[in-house]
Amino acid sequence: MAMGASKSNSLKAPRNDSSGDVAVVSGPKRHAVVPSPEQKICNVALLGFGTVGSSVARILAERAPGRLRLSHVCNRNVSRKRVDWLPPDVKWTEDMNEVLSSDVDIVVEVIGGLEPAKDWICRTLSAGKSVVTANKQLIAHHGPELIELARRMKRHIAFGASVAGGVPVISGLREGLAGDELFKIYGILNGTCNYILSRIESSRISFSDALAEAQKLGFAEADPTEDVDGLDARAKLAILARIGLHSDVQPDSIVCRSISSIEAVDFEYGNQVGFTIRQISWAELKDNRLFASVQPALVGLSSPLARVEGGQNLVMATGKFGGETVFAGHGAGGHPTAVAVVSDIISIAGHEGGMNGFADMPQITPTVTADFTTRHYLRFKVMDRPGIIAALATIFSECGINIDSLLQKPGYLKSSLPFVITLEACQTSLIEKALQQISRLDFLVQPTVHLPILD
Ligand SMILES: NC(=O)c1ccc[n+]([C@@H]2O[C@H](COP(=O)([O-])OP(=O)(O)OC[C@H]3O[C@@H](n4cnc5c(N)ncnc54)[C@H](OP(=O)(O)O)[C@@H]3O)[C@@H](O)[C@H]2O)c1
Repeated sequence: MAMGASKSNSLKAPRNDSSGDVAVVSGPKRHAVVPSPEQKICNVALLGFGTVGSSVARILAERAPGRLRLSHVCNRNVSRKRVDWLPPDVKWTEDMNEVLSSDVDIVVEVIGGLEPAKDWICRTLSAGKSVVTANKQLIAHHGPELIELARRMKRHIAFGASVAGGVPVISGLREGLAGDELFKIYGILNGTCNYILSRIESSRISFSDALAEAQKLGFAEADPTEDVDGLDARAKLAILARIGLHSDVQPDSIVCRSISSIEAVDFEYGNQVGFTIRQISWAELKDNRLFASVQPALVGLSSPLARVEGGQNLVMATGKFGGETVFAGHGAGGHPTAVAVVSDIISIAGHEGGMNGFADMPQITPTVTADFTTRHYLRFKVMDRPGIIAALATIFSECGINIDSLLQKPGYLKSSLPFVITLEACQTSLIEKALQQISRLDFLVQPTVHLPILD
């Protein structure tokens, strides 16, 4: 497989801070439009009044089309959540049954987690109401059954905010590119990882310092495992593969590798040969096999992936007929995510009559593999002594791997000397076999860092 950023046909430039979120908060204040008498009011209930939920409420209060009306907010211990900027007729409740038995048309699930979110969504659909959710883990793990339930009930379930926050990638794949036959979707799906890697690169700080900084600024959770180990991105990738590649893939079948082993020296070596490092999510369909992974990788400095800074997301979709299309923008945050939620609400409200325009199901069940063929970057840290290169070269030769180049910068301690070997294109499984043997060599002072090179 050639993993490479080809030329884009269209580039939707990353939104700056004057996009969706600021239009709501600090832009000129716009009030909800009064509906004309013939327009049916569409009642909306919010489950969860946290970061995303309160932003959705803010947009609905300030600029939603007039026929949308926020009627319920449901949250545990709801009294502490009340705000004075919502209309007084909004019902604040802790009881989901109150929402289910009401005349609410669309229920927005933004509580997060698998339960009770799944139970509440099933009960909502069964009660004949449509659902909008931002919950990537729920959709990645249970999307097909929830979509099937929506189809049976002739209701909608929309989850545009579950991948890449405010970037309309799901509707772009499902509707904008529906005429093409997509075979590859890849990009940067986790803003936290992107922020951490950008900070290591720009300030040459350690992974742990960059993580601590991200946590202090609210870009990373107290427990960052989901983000840095790739679990968050692979849930999103599974959703994109279902939508864009029509491939029924479980998140757990996608290999993911952590960014925690990346050090500033990897950027120094990478930059030296024209690359930088990003956490890349990749899904490519070939002959009923889905090549998929989430891992840190070297990407060319001139690639759009290399220009994704801080918490931004970028997704590239490649089709047989239309070539490459790029979606980019704010991947998270209350307001950008809420924009995607409200767009889904507006879209459902526009689909009168209960036909489920969102309920397309995956069509194939491919074998999922991470055995990509790429060039590879290996960074070793060794206790220096004669014969190290010879020992490594012997293992590569026995595994049928060709060395491409050797990079060694001066100025490091001989007791902990980092150097890099790049390898010619070969299957990842060959590299893994070689790395197993290499891990037994006694001159290594830490495990070898292995990154694919996306030419
Ligand atoms: N934040 C983002 O940037 C972002 C981006 C994309 C997608 N999302 C997704 O959006 C969803 C919401 O995220 P968020 O950041 O808004 O989370 P959050 O700030 O933690 O808000 C969740 C809200 O739901 C309430 N809640 C949780 N469990 C509940 C339960 N069992 N019963 C009643 N209320 C409950 C919480 O109440 P308490 O205050 O009592 O905890 C809180 O008010 C998640 O699925 C997340 O993955 C978020």
